[in-house]
Amino acid sequence: MDASSKSSTFSGISRTGLEVRLVARPEGLPAPGDFAITEVDVPNPASGQVLVRNLFMSLDPGMLMLITGESCLPMPRYEVGEVMYGDAIGEVVASADSSLREGDLVMHRLGWREYAVADAGLFRRVDRDAYPTPSTYLGFGLVAYVGLMDAAELRPGDTVFVSSAAGATGSMAGQIARLKGAARVIGSAGSRDKVDYLTGKLGFDAAFDYHDGPITDRLREAAPEGIDVYFDNVGGEQLRAAIEIMNPHGRIAVCGALNRQSKAGPDGGPGDLLSVLGKRLTIRGFTVGDHLERAPEFGAQFRTWLREGAIVYDETVIDGLAKAPQALLDLVNGAYTGKTVVQLGG
Ligand SMILES: NC(=O)c1ccc[n+]([C@@H]2O[C@H](COP(=O)([O-])OP(=O)(O)OC[C@H]3O[C@@H](n4cnc5c(N)ncnc54)[C@H](OP(=O)(O)O)[C@@H]3O)[C@@H](O)[C@H]2O)c1
Repeated sequence: MDASSKSSTFSGISRTGLEVRLVARPEGLPAPGDFAITEVDVPNPASGQVLVRNLFMSLDPGMLMLITGESCLPMPRYEVGEVMYGDAIGEVVASADSSLREGDLVMHRLGWREYAVADAGLFRRVDRDAYPTPSTYLGFGLVAYVGLMDAAELRPGDTVFVSSAAGATGSMAGQIARLKGAARVIGSAGSRDKVDYLTGKLGFDAAFDYHDGPITDRLREAAPEGIDVYFDNVGGEQLRAAIEIMNPHGRIAVCGALNRQSKAGPDGGPGDLLSVLGKRLTIRGFTVGDHLERAPEFGAQFRTWLREGAIVYDETVIDGLAKAPQALLDLVNGAYTGKTVVQLGG
């Protein structure tokens, strides 16, 4: 691209930015060649629009299902040839709408690009001083919170099992369960380091590596008196084991399907449902988007917990949009801990 002849200006500043398009729809997991990273001119905002410089965007394993297009998630798949979308946080650098001003920090869904230009109504102003870094806004604490409180109907004294417990949602779910009165919190993860992280820094009562032998056996050892709540990020064998170990009237919140997402194939589902009937279990899927009324209540609690040192919030920060496609694959391959975000624009 000839930047000198094509780049846009606003207030005399030339702007180009990177964006990521899906260029082919893979059958299974995507390869780097399924994405195109291009530098484009950034248009000036038209009347009613704002121009936002993105600071961070979220990486979510659910994006893999939007890429393959086989998702039954309540959100549109990525279209071939189009820029992908996802949660991001950025700073208004030019505004042609009275609702937002230059310097405002805004959340929105126009990730996978360094600059976003769109109608002001698509951006939500947030408090710049709420967290030490704006990337914290992209965390999945609210996902964990509504999964526990609404889908699993967590009760004081419950024994709670969380899978993918060292990840973005799981690390929050285990700690929030404890803060909300769980008597015992158990986590599973894919490596010895992550198991140590769970029982060490995050304060889980017990944890195991799901590669270590039959999961039912590991779960029985970790929860000799059974489990009351399973926060399911994974599905497959871990879901089947949890059903087997659950106490009567146990509750399962189905948050994710990492076993399926990480190999882009079926995982055998929940198995024989006779135990669900016999033990009168509840299995409830949820999406955070159906529970956004909980956001103010959660935000207030989360900030208090952070201030008091009652909760650990860890992030993995990937440097630069160009690394994001590979990082999405690395994410489901277990390379990262905590919430994974991409820092944009240096
Ligand atoms: N319901 C909602 O509203 C909602 C909202 C956001 C996200 N989600 C979903 O919640 C789930 C967790 O998302 P996240 O962002 O918190 O991901 P994450 O746990 O931070 O990251 C992915 C992790 O998946 C684990 N993994 C990969 N393959 C696995 C397998 N076969 N069995 C067990 N673990 C496996 C890896 O951990 P190990 O190293 O431990 O294997 C990896 O670190 C995803 O399915 C996501 O799509 C749901």
